[in-house]
Amino acid sequence: MQTIRNFFRPSWSSAQRLEDKTVVITGANTGIGKETAIDLAKRGARIIMACRDMEKAQAAVKEVIESSSNENVVCMKLDLADSKSIREFAENINREEPKLNILINNAGVMVCPYGKTADGFEMQIGVNHFGHFLLTYLLLDLIKKSTPARIINVSSMAHSWGSINLEDINSEKSYDKRGAYSQSKLANVLFTRSLAKRLEGTGVTTYSLHPGVVQTDLWRHLSGPQQLVMKIVSPFTKNSTQGAQTSIYCAVEPTLEKESGGYYSDCAPADCSAAGKNDETAQKLWELSCQLLSITWE
Ligand SMILES: NC(=O)c1ccc[n+]([C@@H]2O[C@H](COP(=O)([O-])OP(=O)(O)OC[C@H]3O[C@@H](n4cnc5c(N)ncnc54)[C@H](OP(=O)(O)O)[C@@H]3O)[C@@H](O)[C@H]2O)c1
Repeated sequence: MQTIRNFFRPSWSSAQRLEDKTVVITGANTGIGKETAIDLAKRGARIIMACRDMEKAQAAVKEVIESSSNENVVCMKLDLADSKSIREFAENINREEPKLNILINNAGVMVCPYGKTADGFEMQIGVNHFGHFLLTYLLLDLIKKSTPARIINVSSMAHSWGSINLEDINSEKSYDKRGAYSQSKLANVLFTRSLAKRLEGTGVTTYSLHPGVVQTDLWRHLSGPQQLVMKIVSPFTKNSTQGAQTSIYCAVEPTLEKESGGYYSDCAPADCSAAGKNDETAQKLWELSCQLLSITWE
């Protein structure tokens, strides 16, 4: 079924090895995150799978070890919908790990019914943006000590349909589940852009990306008819292995070492929307994120 889509997609591959590198991947128990973990484990990295459900995570660790023949794969509890969990995870990493070379902010939730995180953020902006913003902030000193290092934010082409509602970022006045997803994915692109500026000259580079339209559990909140449409268009979509390629490309491709802050798709630089290049909104989002998370990050 994937053959039609494969025919049109250029392929990328790299023999780049990652021995002596430590990688954290959020939401690595399934979908794109798990396939990314398998690939980077095959390259010899130490893989830390940051997951909210430890039963699913243990099963995924087993699968990653079996597929990669790399025993240096562990999971650790991380619930991005709870800043307490994020802080505990970061404390553990900062205490136990001597280095962190690659952080892949991959976890995500899409078009869910209205809900709030433990900190009162709307679920999609809370998990997809605020959670990863705080996680990156808490791990940044370790990442800076581990250069060359990379931070990868898995966004989506859906960012281009979104805008940042600075007056009502948590959709408390009105909730459009698609709009809230697009807002969160635009926030990923803007965060990457802002972060790159702040990391200039540190040896840490950062990338955002669209993985493609990928058959994963992400579609779990779609309605019955929407699920049917996804089945019909499935020959044009990617499987999880294919969907992981741009994350892997951003994590390992040597020629990207001199680039930072950009947006990628199909293992190549891509154009993000005009809103994704708006530095004024990016700065305002940065300030609002710091304020709502009660952190100081100039
Ligand atoms: N699939 C696509 O077509 C597509 C397209 C564009 C962008 N993306 C992006 O790709 C990324 C990966 O998605 P996917 O397609 O692989 O979806 P997926 O199979 O649903 O995986 C999402 C992962 O995020 C985890 N997660 C959700 N909420 C979390 C929380 N509060 N704390 C920690 N982890 C949490 C999930 O854990 P559980 O298993 O416990 O729920 C799961 O491991 C997402 O950022 C998504 O926005 C996907």
